[in-house]
Amino acid sequence: MLSWDEFDKEDDAQPAKGANAGHAAEAAMDKLDSAGAGAAQEARAVTANDSAAVARAKAALDKLDVAEGLAELEGSAARVAVDEKRMINCRADLNQLVPFKYDWAWQKYLDGCANHWMPQEVNMTADIATWRNPEGLTDDERRIVMRNLGFFSTADSLVANNLALAVYRLITNPECRQYILRQAFEEAIHTHAYQYCIESLGMDEGEIFNMYHEIPSVAKKAAWGLKYTRAISDPEFNTGTPETDKELLRNLIAYYCVLEGIFFYCGFTQILSMGRRNKMTGVAEQFQYILRDESMHLNFGIDVINQIKIENPHLWDAELKEEASQMILQGTQLEIEYARDTMPRGVLGMNAAMMEDYLKFIANRRLSQIGLKEEYPGTTNPFPWMSEIMDLKKEKNFFETRVIEYQTGGALSWD
Ligand SMILES: [Fe+2]
Ligand SMILES: [Fe+2]
Repeated sequence: MLSWDEFDKEDDAQPAKGANAGHAAEAAMDKLDSAGAGAAQEARAVTANDSAAVARAKAALDKLDVAEGLAELEGSAARVAVDEKRMINCRADLNQLVPFKYDWAWQKYLDGCANHWMPQEVNMTADIATWRNPEGLTDDERRIVMRNLGFFSTADSLVANNLALAVYRLITNPECRQYILRQAFEEAIHTHAYQYCIESLGMDEGEIFNMYHEIPSVAKKAAWGLKYTRAISDPEFNTGTPETDKELLRNLIAYYCVLEGIFFYCGFTQILSMGRRNKMTGVAEQFQYILRDESMHLNFGIDVINQIKIENPHLWDAELKEEASQMILQGTQLEIEYARDTMPRGVLGMNAAMMEDYLKFIANRRLSQIGLKEEYPGTTNPFPWMSEIMDLKKEKNFFETRVIEYQTGGALSWD
C-alpha cells in the first residue's frame, strides 16, 4: 500500500528544494512507481466479475506513463517554498496553492466569494413600469439607459475573455489565479445582469448588443481595449523577455486601470444617479452590486501591477512609465467623449463638463495608484456620493431593497 508516512520520512532525509529539486522530483517518481506497484497490480487484476469493457479499461491503465503525464504540469515537481513564488515567470509548481505568498490575493478571493449575488435576486418590477410608461423617463434619460446597457453588455465579455484567454496563463501564481477565476465568474454574472435588464425591459437585444459595432463612442472604447488582448492572446506568446513582460504589463494597465478603472465610471455614475432619484432602481441596484465587484477587480489589478514592478524593477523604466501614463490619458479622453455622447444636455443633476472633472479626478487616482504623476492637477470630485457608494461601509440602505438583506447571509457588513 502507498503510505504517506513513508513520503514524510524520506523527505526529511533528502533536500527537496533549489538545485536538488530535479533529483527530488526523480526520487519522488521512483517512490510512486515502487510504493504504488503492489497495490495497483492487486486492484487492477481482472476478475471473473469484470465485463469485457472493465477489463479493457484496466488493461489500458497498464500503459499509463505517470512521469510523462506529470511532465505536462507547469513548474517543477518539487514541493513549493514561499520564496520561490513569483507573479510572472515562476518556476515553482503552479498547482500548489499553499504556502501563500500574496495574502492580499487570497483575501480578495475570500471577499469576492462573500459578496456573491445573482441578477435574478433584484426586483425589476418598478423599472419595467417606468420603462413602458411614455412619461416614465425623459428622452435624455432613456438614452443614458440604452447607451450604458449597450456598452456594458459587451464590455464585461471583453474583460472576461482577456482574463481567460490571455492573462490567466501568464500570471504564474496560484493564489492570484484563484482570484482571477473568481473575477472571471463575476464578469459572467455582470454580463448576465445586463442581459437580465435588457430582457426585463423588453429592449431590442440586437440593437443593444451591437452598439459596440455601431455606436462610435462605445466602439472606440471596445477597440481600444481589444488591441491589448490581441497583443498577448496568441498561444505562441510567452513572457520571459523584457519586451514580452512589458507587453503583459501594458495589458494589465489597459484592462485594470483603464477599462475597469475609467471606462466604467461615466456609466456607473449616470445609472447610480438615476437610482438616487428613484428612477430605474432595479437597474441601479444591479449596477451597485457590479460596482462593488468592480472596485475589488480594480484593487486586485493595481496590486498585481505593483507587485510585478517590485519583482521586476527593470521593466518599469522611463519609457514604459511614459507609455502607461499615455494609456491612462487616452482612456480618460475616450471616456470624456463617451460622457458627451451620452449627455448632450444636462440630465439627472449632472452634465458632460461635471463628468469630465470627475473622470480627470479618477484618472489622477489611477496614475498615482501605479506610481505615476497626476496629470490633471487641482481637479476635485464633483460627485462625492460616488466615493461613498464605493466605500460601502458608509453606504446606507438608500435603495431599500435586497442589498442590505444580502449581507446578513454573506459576510459583508455595510453598517
Ligand atoms: Fe464586470
Ligand atoms: Fe471587472
